[in-house]
Amino acid sequence: MASSLLSTTTNASLSLFPPQTNSKSKRRISRVSCNAADNNNKDDRNRRDVLIGLGGLGAATSFTYNPFAAFADPVQTNPKTCGRPNLPAGAKPIPCCPPKIDSDKVNDFVFPPKLPPRVRKPAHRLTAEEAADYKEAIRRMRALPDDDPRSFTQQANIHCAYCHDSYVLKDSTAPPQVKVHFNWLFAPFHRWYLYFYERILASLINKPSFALPFWNWDHPDGMYIPDIFADRRSSLYDAKRNANHLPPVLIDLNWNRRLGDTSGDSGINLSKVYTNIAAVKTPDAFFGKNFDQGGGQFAGSGTLELLHNTGHSWTGDPTDPNNEDMGSFYSSGRDPLFYCHHSNVDRLWNIWKDKFGGIDFPDDDYKNSSFLFYDENGKLIRVNVKDSFDSSRLGYTYSDVPIPWENAKPPTTATKAVPPPENPPKLPLLLNNVTSFTVKRPSKSRSKEEKAKKEEILVFEVALDKSKDVKFDVLLFWKDDPTKATPKNREFAGSFVNVSHAPSSKDLKVKYIIEISDLLDDLKADDQDNIQVTLVPQYGDVPVTINDVHVSYHEHYKFRK
Ligand code: C2O
Repeated sequence: MASSLLSTTTNASLSLFPPQTNSKSKRRISRVSCNAADNNNKDDRNRRDVLIGLGGLGAATSFTYNPFAAFADPVQTNPKTCGRPNLPAGAKPIPCCPPKIDSDKVNDFVFPPKLPPRVRKPAHRLTAEEAADYKEAIRRMRALPDDDPRSFTQQANIHCAYCHDSYVLKDSTAPPQVKVHFNWLFAPFHRWYLYFYERILASLINKPSFALPFWNWDHPDGMYIPDIFADRRSSLYDAKRNANHLPPVLIDLNWNRRLGDTSGDSGINLSKVYTNIAAVKTPDAFFGKNFDQGGGQFAGSGTLELLHNTGHSWTGDPTDPNNEDMGSFYSSGRDPLFYCHHSNVDRLWNIWKDKFGGIDFPDDDYKNSSFLFYDENGKLIRVNVKDSFDSSRLGYTYSDVPIPWENAKPPTTATKAVPPPENPPKLPLLLNNVTSFTVKRPSKSRSKEEKAKKEEILVFEVALDKSKDVKFDVLLFWKDDPTKATPKNREFAGSFVNVSHAPSSKDLKVKYIIEISDLLDDLKADDQDNIQVTLVPQYGDVPVTINDVHVSYHEHYKFRK
């Protein structure tokens, strides 16, 4: 596809990666990690076999890996195979399997009887009584012995196990492992996770109506770490957070680590949420790529996950080598704030469907994929993806608070013609500076009917070291200083964000897609033969590689209501 990339210019005078010489800058480049093994790394498969044999639960004895056996099947967690994840040589293992999994005792999920709905409210607007209940529930959860599956430690470990490649797939006793990030399992997995966590908290204080609050970072009043989490004496407190990001510092949903701890801007935040939620039309772009059980080539997060990634990196403690707690997926469940962060992510999923016409993937492999959780009685429950689609059936709703980003669409600017391409660039392209190039479009000025049928998308094939934090912004037809662009500019098409997977050092190959039909209309650029693209790396001390950029058309609209 190199031919679609027509010209490139690299602005070498913009130094985005100053050498890390002093301790201050070193601290800023800390990691966000979740060790996840790579599907296509053969050496790791072999190492993984050994690790299960040594450190797993003893149930898995034969390790025949058939890359085609599990292909095109729903993802199923094999309860017998929680083992130690792959790690690069010398790295310390992070044990996060449940205390004991007896596969004969797995129960299928049954919808709860109709109870008064639990209403999840913004964490900054709880009544004194609600806040007290929440703190008491977490206090009791923390007081449970570590080997109780309902305990604070075990609940945090669930996330670690599912992000840390601890489970292999159902009919296989070897990798690839179940992964709940960088693919379409992200939204349903985390919904179920919160569901059981909330039920456990409710039962610990014996209040069936208990509802988990949400961190309302998409509203100016909620754009800081809610006060209840900052009280050092409370069970909701976690010491491993970024000391420069405590309330009342505004969260920066477009956080560019290289610029340090600049305060967030509510207008930028609202536009960012608009771009990642309201403007998105298709499940592919919103939820991400399918999880390829065959160990396929590409992973891919959707805009919901990409938006949420920044909340992790921004909250984690940069003085910790792995940016614990929130800044590492393996440790993020140890911060009570994690669950309120995800409660808002879960809410945005509902809003996208209810308000913006989004739909869930009508795909059987997706719908029948399943996970395992412990319920409030310590029973092991198997849940599937499709039962998560309608959250009201799970007995909870979100309080109806204003959605100020609904109309935060950046103002439209007319674009100028793109100069004819010269010097075809060499791919792969090492993105270590602001880089501009043009991409050829297979077609232009399509009719309304064609556009309604097929969405035009810009596809980036990105290779990165997934142990590193990464963010780069994508600007289309940007004419000014690229470091000045923000989500408040319509030309700001999106950001690719990786929450790093330290201490893994393996390569990750990602397809990052951006829907551009409306964007090109707004920029009055639909009559252009080529798209001018500017990539602005925003943090990370290691550049990513862009292997390919091209325009494609997706028949997403068949999925639309
Ligand atoms: Cu499983 Cu916010 O991540």
